[in-house]
Amino acid sequence: MTSAAPLASPTRVLVVGGGGRENALAWALRRSQGVEQVWITPGNGGSADLEGCQQLAIAEHDHAALLELCRRQAIELVVVGPEAPLAAGLADQLRAAGVAVFGPGADGAQLEASKQWAKALMVEAGVPTAGYWPANSREQALAALEAQGKPLVVKADGLAAGKGVTVADTMEEARAAIEEIFTGRFGAEASLVLEERTEGPEVSVFALTDGERMVLLPPAQDHKRIGEGDTGPNTGGMGAYAPAPLLDAAGLEQVRQRVLEPTLAALRARGISYRGVMYAGLMLTAAGPSVIEFNCRFGDPECETLMPLLGPELAQVLLACATGQLERAPSLTIAPLCSACVIAAAAGYPGTVRSGDPIEGTLEPSQQVQLFHAGTQRLADGRCVSSGGRVLAVVAQDNGFDAAFAKAYRALEQVHFNGMVVRRDIGHQVRSH
Ligand code: AMP
Ligand code: GLY
Repeated sequence: MTSAAPLASPTRVLVVGGGGRENALAWALRRSQGVEQVWITPGNGGSADLEGCQQLAIAEHDHAALLELCRRQAIELVVVGPEAPLAAGLADQLRAAGVAVFGPGADGAQLEASKQWAKALMVEAGVPTAGYWPANSREQALAALEAQGKPLVVKADGLAAGKGVTVADTMEEARAAIEEIFTGRFGAEASLVLEERTEGPEVSVFALTDGERMVLLPPAQDHKRIGEGDTGPNTGGMGAYAPAPLLDAAGLEQVRQRVLEPTLAALRARGISYRGVMYAGLMLTAAGPSVIEFNCRFGDPECETLMPLLGPELAQVLLACATGQLERAPSLTIAPLCSACVIAAAAGYPGTVRSGDPIEGTLEPSQQVQLFHAGTQRLADGRCVSSGGRVLAVVAQDNGFDAAFAKAYRALEQVHFNGMVVRRDIGHQVRSH
């Protein structure tokens, strides 16, 4: 990918968002060649400690203040972490003002923001995904369910912060999930899709794209359930590892050809220039990979897991995606290491969580161990306390998964907050003990 003159590195970069994902992005971008200063807005309790990063208290929905910051600080690249500002058109607004943004506009963000839209696009593109029935009213949904006569997966249409999906085991559960969508927090105007249930292990694939070309990151596996042995309620993710052996190089190539390239082509056919990360949540079924969902952002904690593997070309590659010139970017180096990430969550997560507990301890700086803050907050008196469900992410790299996880769990012993919940079995699929 080096035919044209190489693209300059951005020196001044802004990361928008306040989770563990955004701290990992800021950290990796600051390590990138040529980057001199990274701003992070609003960040969290750990952002101010990231070397070379400046934290500012601007909310991700305050588009006008973000644009003003870009102008004032001559920001050369904005990387938007979360889906909500993308779906709300932040990238469109900044781009219209001439700012380079890694992240799709509101049109492309529908890939995540509307399940109905994404399913229709997948069908149009011939991308493998479970059969589905869209519904825009309670009656329509219940009728479609009864017509199928089996418990389907129920998915609310809009952004639901990971809480819009019910994998029903019984008809009763499926009916209740439909009722909840139309009477609960989604309101009478809600819409949904019903989906065939598929079986198989899940893996996340991330493509960095400029709308035409793409670079794939190593596949990652998340751990969605709160409990060991993959039990209990779904969470945002309790840990992850990469590269997931579930998808070898040939498998990843198949995903590129059958899923990612056709989806990008279908977006282009709708006049959408998708510049950002395309996250395919896949289920590896007996019939091959099937798309469970698309997201328009990096996964969290997959992002924390992957960033330490990426080389110093990252900022240039993201700028090249943002400006539609991926052919001018250097190849992205990916360290041939195993990366392991373990989340420390607050008591009560994924329900109502306990917060306000001081974060104690810190990690010795090390090449291959990172501590990223997620749900934390810095108080006026300087103390850093827990303020969310997933509080900390500890990540470690080594030549094998056993060594990487041993390092991550050892590092976790050095940090503490009251009520800390950790799954001890993250990576059980790839660890020998
Ligand atoms: P989502 O919010 O779309 O990621 O869905 C949450 C979880 O629900 C996924 O990670 C899967 O474990 C499960 N899920 C979603 N769609 C299906 C499906 N069609 N069949 C079986 N499980 C599913
Ligand atoms: N880790 C799953 C997600 O970010 O959606």
